[in-house]
Amino acid sequence: MSGQVDARAAYDAIADWYADYITGPAVGFAARAGEALVRVLGPGRGLCWDLACGTGVYADLVRDLGWTLVGSDISLGQLRHAAGRMPVVAADATRLPLAPGAVRAVTSVLCHTDVEDYAALCRSAAAALAPAGRFVHVGVHPCFIGAFVDGSDPERLVTTPGYWRRARTHAGWADGIRARVGAVHLTLGDLFQAVTAAGLMVDTVQELGEPTPDVLAIGAHKLTTGARHAEASESVAGAMTHVAFEG
Ligand SMILES: C[S@@+](CC[C@H](N)C(=O)[O-])C[C@H]1O[C@@H](n2cnc3c(N)ncnc32)[C@H](O)[C@@H]1O
Repeated sequence: MSGQVDARAAYDAIADWYADYITGPAVGFAARAGEALVRVLGPGRGLCWDLACGTGVYADLVRDLGWTLVGSDISLGQLRHAAGRMPVVAADATRLPLAPGAVRAVTSVLCHTDVEDYAALCRSAAAALAPAGRFVHVGVHPCFIGAFVDGSDPERLVTTPGYWRRARTHAGWADGIRARVGAVHLTLGDLFQAVTAAGLMVDTVQELGEPTPDVLAIGAHKLTTGARHAEASESVAGAMTHVAFEG
């Protein structure tokens, strides 16, 4: 393991707790996140980089799809657990230590509420991807999970006026990750904007969870310059056809 890593990375202090939590009390949620990851990543060959791999709980799922997996994380405590599951590197996801175009896929699982600058993470992923390479975001659903939603009663979610508050907070009803290390909040628009502004074309959206979705997954691919123009023109043409029909 190498790289410039903040020794005070928040998860260092809770890595052992997180390893037990994600395979214990949160195992149902983790299974949904894993299912979303499998659906949106899909089968493939070549290098897949998991840029905030945590303890590496999804390593087998990704390898079973045919990918060659490497993980990185800013927390050495988390990587201590992940090292038994895949090759790992200590790195900040917003500054991946990868040559441009080096990998065929990048996955970002359950970390948008942890990383301070998710747009920078998406740019870093896009830079590392080969043309047509796959980017997969899996995260808590920002419309239904956050400090602004009280889910303590399984029969009703209570939404308070906090959807637009993005700052890191430890507040919330659950005794989970947010209570321990805090969480930032991205709105639905922030998430899609971060992905598309990085030059990634969204091609898949999945929502999982009953009765209310708690997992949102976004699949995107890296555009080449030529494809960028072609796909943009196609969507403009599609929109104009739609406008013509509406009119
Ligand atoms: C909730 S855990 C998710 C871990 C793993 N992806 C999973 O689904 O179990 C969030 C992870 O993001 C990592 N993280 C936070 N900021 C990061 C950054 N800037 N670069 C890399 N990893 C980061 C944390 O150390 C932590 O392991």
